[in-house]
Amino acid sequence: MERREIEQLVRTHMEQKLEAEGKREYIIAANWKMNMSAKETRAFLKELSDTNIPEYLNIILFPPFPYLPAAQKMLRYEAVTYGAQDVAEKDKGAYTGEVSAAMLADCGCSYTLIGHSERRAYYGETSDIVARKASKALEYGIVPVICIGETLEERRSGAYKEVLKGQVDAAAKVCQEKLAQCIIAYEPVWAIGTGVIPTTKEIEETHRYIHDVLASYDKHAGAKFRILYGGSVNENNVRDIAPVPFVDGFLIGGASLKVESFKNIINLLSLDGCL
Ligand code: PGA
Repeated sequence: MERREIEQLVRTHMEQKLEAEGKREYIIAANWKMNMSAKETRAFLKELSDTNIPEYLNIILFPPFPYLPAAQKMLRYEAVTYGAQDVAEKDKGAYTGEVSAAMLADCGCSYTLIGHSERRAYYGETSDIVARKASKALEYGIVPVICIGETLEERRSGAYKEVLKGQVDAAAKVCQEKLAQCIIAYEPVWAIGTGVIPTTKEIEETHRYIHDVLASYDKHAGAKFRILYGGSVNENNVRDIAPVPFVDGFLIGGASLKVESFKNIINLLSLDGCL
């Protein structure tokens, strides 16, 4: 049996167990972006593998492509999973520089980030491209973590709901009945790497809105949709945001690069009564 299959069996078992106990899975995802060396990656993975992680926490690392084999080799599948930061929308062929979903599956990836605001801003990824990538990942049994988020102008003008709806709609149209298998990461562009963060009231209101848009496509999946918050999450704010309704976890950039701060976040979310 492949690592990914074992991992999926373990996670399904865990989800059923948590459901029976009236608990929920909580996701802590680390987006390393274009950072870390091979040496730093190995040290990080070793340290994390030795960390005690409660079973309701699902830790997902997103290292750069070249370090995926290290994750495959060093991570214990029952504790920490991993994925890529992007995936090609095509299966294979003459697409220089692209990495296909099949290749990610070969590297044992269970997840892939898609449509991060940096990819949308610097590499011209539209919501339609993002949707096709998500659909391709699903085809290969990889869970897409679809990033959505508004700019500061869109937040200030009040157009943010329309923007977020447009981003979700594009994914819903292409993924159809598989929409509930996707994870959505809400990352306001103005909160990424800035230290500026929405209030918990704003986060709740926006996550509830995104949940309602998702639920309008699949009423039966209602409780199953998972929405992460991302943007300047760190050790100081994580406990305030964690219990906010409709927040199912975090996508963390800067604060996930140092294993100490990432472990502190895991520890803070492991404390009784935090979630
Ligand atoms: P940040 O990045 O935590 O450094 O704000 C989050 C992200 O870009 O996913």
